[in-house]
Amino acid sequence: MQTITTVAELRRALSNARRASKRIGFVPTMGYLHDGHLALVEASRAQSDVTVLSIFVNPTQFGPNEDLSTYPRDFTRDERLCRDADVAIVFAPDAGEVYPPQFETFVEPGDLAKPLCGAFRPGHFRGVATVVCKLFNMVQPDVAFFGQKDFQQCAVVRHMARDLDLPIAIVTVPTVREADGLAMSSRNRYLSEEERRRARAISRGLFAAADKCRSGERDVEKLLAIAKGHLNEIDRLQYLELVDYDTLKAAESPLLRPAALCAAAYVGSTRLIDNVILA
Ligand code: PAJ
Repeated sequence: MQTITTVAELRRALSNARRASKRIGFVPTMGYLHDGHLALVEASRAQSDVTVLSIFVNPTQFGPNEDLSTYPRDFTRDERLCRDADVAIVFAPDAGEVYPPQFETFVEPGDLAKPLCGAFRPGHFRGVATVVCKLFNMVQPDVAFFGQKDFQQCAVVRHMARDLDLPIAIVTVPTVREADGLAMSSRNRYLSEEERRRARAISRGLFAAADKCRSGERDVEKLLAIAKGHLNEIDRLQYLELVDYDTLKAAESPLLRPAALCAAAYVGSTRLIDNVILA
């Protein structure tokens, strides 16, 4: 496994693979890796010949009052996990490599970036789309892997790839969860033991609504009420919405098309997101 920090070095390292027509798989991350990230690596290993994983805590996707400076980092551990998972290249550029002085060109996503997290994190998806587009241009993969956990991010990236004619297949990998259902996240480490216990309420609420949907309930308000009924233990619900799977607009009742039930909630001062797909 190679650890690479510059774009020039990355291009050199990948040129042989490209010449040999190897299929390049790409897993973009912000590090502090967990089994959710490793599921993306596993999917890449299954679908490509060479896996590149990037670790870059992207400043442009954090708001001024968000956790950029405290975002968890453990590069040595991340490298070890990547080596064990057969990653070929860890690409870990510093901020100056990704954003040179006078950087001023951004990718502006459209309506998909407006609801859900977009409504509460202004500029977040502009930062995500910009860095993902840049990383795509640096790595030039054939296929890239994203987690279902960040449902809206998947939608924004997929749409960007289509709108900008990026020749990259976008694969979504199911959410990996802790034994009690909590979606794995680098931010879970912010939770105290007591908060960690209460955080399970989020996935419980989503699963309860998904169960009811499976057994035939199609009324949007009823499904939302079922999920909400489980959310007493969390400190503040930022949003709980049932949206159309493709457009991310509020789902119409009765539910006749695939939809996503999405939640963002604070447990203590930690903001957690999760979703389930109602097919
Ligand atoms: P990060 O939060 O590190 O997540 C990297 C990738 O891992 C994303 O595609 C995310 O959806 C996926 N992931 C996280 N938790 C997961 C889980 N429990 N199960 C399955 N997949 C999971 O998302 C980002 O970084 C950034 O926004 C990034 C795309 C790297 C751009 O900066």
